[in-house]
Amino acid sequence: MKKIIIAIDGYSSCGKSTMAKDLAKTIGYIYVDTGAMYRSVTLYAMEQGLFPEEGIKEQELKSDIDAGKVNISFQFNAETGRPDAYLNGRNVEKEIRQMAVSSRVSPIAALPFVRALLTQQQQRMGDEKGIVMDGRDIGTAVFPNAELKIFVTASAQIRAQRRYDELKAKGEQNLDFDAILKNVQERDYIDTHRETAPLRKADDAIELDNSNMTIAEQKEWLLARYQERAGEN
Ligand code: DC
Repeated sequence: MKKIIIAIDGYSSCGKSTMAKDLAKTIGYIYVDTGAMYRSVTLYAMEQGLFPEEGIKEQELKSDIDAGKVNISFQFNAETGRPDAYLNGRNVEKEIRQMAVSSRVSPIAALPFVRALLTQQQQRMGDEKGIVMDGRDIGTAVFPNAELKIFVTASAQIRAQRRYDELKAKGEQNLDFDAILKNVQERDYIDTHRETAPLRKADDAIELDNSNMTIAEQKEWLLARYQERAGEN
């Protein structure tokens, strides 16, 4: 079968990454979680004091980015069988999933200079094809010519429940369902209303509402779409 680019976009916590990771593993493709890249830039801004309560210090963040001080990469973790995100050579996979980062990432992801940097890196990762990339703008801005585009949706309630279960399983204490639901809804709003590369379904994307699907069903559905597309001439 020919090597293709698979773009998986959708709302936060809709299970895109689980589907994307599983598919990549099954078909021997590289998996890239672009949300982890935006989360890593957010963590950088927080750690450098560039994201205080009053708002982002855009100029300082831009200077650091222009000076090459924000380097994001991925390294395969043999224990989990998945790639971990690294910020300037440090494994940040756990930190970037915490609520403190989740609640700040959307405004960072709305900054055009942040998007320009990460989009360019993502496009380079797809040079050789054979890649499954998930995010918000992969089928629209990063790879508008991707051979297979999927747009995943699920209700906000269901997505908040999934995020709650995920954080609980990771051992996060004092979880508040309503706060998680609010965070999901706020991120939906910012992600779909920002000026640069807002979240939207590409015209040629296949939509999947997975509200009532098991992970196994989603996996099977996605594998079938891949086989159809990669088998075409
Ligand atoms: O998929 P996630 O929840 O880890 O994404 C974190 C944030 O990053 C999300 O609020 C939107 C943003 N994002 C984006 O703007 N573009 C992408 N390609 C991926 C994520």
